[in-house]
Amino acid sequence: MSCQIKAVDLNRLPPADEILSQREAAFFQTLRFPKRRVEWLGGRFALKELVRANCGVPYREIEILPQPSGKPSLCVGGKESLLAFSLTHSHGWAAAAVSADERFVGIDLEKIEHRLDAWAKDFFHPSELTGSGDAFLTALWTQKEAVVKVLGTGLSLNSYEVRCIDGKPFFFGRAQAAYARLGNPALTLQTDERIPGFMFTLAHGH
Ligand SMILES: CC(C)(COP(=O)(O)OP(=O)(O)OC[C@H]1O[C@@H](n2cnc3c(N)ncnc32)[C@H](O)[C@@H]1OP(=O)(O)O)[C@@H](O)C(=O)NCCC(=O)NCCS
Repeated sequence: MSCQIKAVDLNRLPPADEILSQREAAFFQTLRFPKRRVEWLGGRFALKELVRANCGVPYREIEILPQPSGKPSLCVGGKESLLAFSLTHSHGWAAAAVSADERFVGIDLEKIEHRLDAWAKDFFHPSELTGSGDAFLTALWTQKEAVVKVLGTGLSLNSYEVRCIDGKPFFFGRAQAAYARLGNPALTLQTDERIPGFMFTLAHGH
């Protein structure tokens, strides 16, 4: 497999007008909250860096636009791209992943923070809680979110419908149906502390 990942510091982004296409810039103008604006821009910059390195296309000819599902579309040089990709952002960082040879990619980045037991019991199915502590729970969260991004379902699932047990995803209910629609691909999860103090998961597969 070959997934490429790029993380960018949101304090070190180029100006929006150097990165965004006209249509992206028009959408960017509609974003009101500074945090949302910089995260949205940062995710695009990270992905455009990867695409530019692969295809040699300038930033402004790479277009990542929101879709109703939440999962954005990617156009390169005016044509819809077949590259699998995913975006994430958290606490001052944004990251993107692309793969030319895998059909499915999902990533998630989360800051390691104290998580209440009550939250963990609510969000994770008991079968997922094979460990404890803030790093474990944050890692588990990133696994679930990375898998949800592969499914493309966004918030339409409840958190028990995707379960990550010892680094493997399992699907129930609406998640099982969404996974079947993708053809039940074998998914691999890779979790690491890619940025100190943050957990990161890449979910990928054919
Ligand atoms: C949107 C969601 C996919 C991830 O959101 P998140 O972890 O809060 O945010 P992240 O920064 O990691 O990711 C946001 C990016 O995901 C992408 N995204 C949004 N909806 C998506 C979808 N349906 N499918 C794939 N990717 C999606 C977008 O690129 C978005 O960035 P952008 O709006 O700047 O382009 C969604 O799962 C969510 O909001 N979850 C909240 C927690 C929850 O209830 N989880 C239960 C799931 S089992």
